[in-house]
Amino acid sequence: MTDSTRRAVIFSAGGAGLAAVLSACSGGDSTATSEAAPADGQAAAGGGEIAKTSDIPVGGGKVFKDQDVVVTQPEAGTFKAFSATCTHKSCPVGSVANNEIICPCHGSRFSAKDGSVTNPPANKPLAEKKITVSGDSITLA
Ligand code: FES
Repeated sequence: MTDSTRRAVIFSAGGAGLAAVLSACSGGDSTATSEAAPADGQAAAGGGEIAKTSDIPVGGGKVFKDQDVVVTQPEAGTFKAFSATCTHKSCPVGSVANNEIICPCHGSRFSAKDGSVTNPPANKPLAEKKITVSGDSITLA
């Protein structure tokens, strides 16, 4: 049980995630995190990062409902972000496939490149959101 649990943790957590878990457990020992913390001390911990670039498939994307953002990668190395609220009747969009953002409610589709409508009933584009890609980290601006 402990072996399989440990393996699951190692395989499911990235370096940062594992470090966060370990530092949370160690309580009070902040020396390990001080050199990795950004100068303003807020960007990494404040929820600025929404995804790793490796989380976003080329031609696809990922919906972050809590942040109302869908992040796409229409071409390798090009990342875009849009509001995840459908402009038709405000359902959250559900998925991204073949460079289209799909709303499950009534079938509207939007371009993963610029948010424009590719299939009605929606008739307004998804609003673009500003993101910054730094290394393998995607943050909301
Ligand atoms: S709310 Fe998205 S298609 Fe109607």
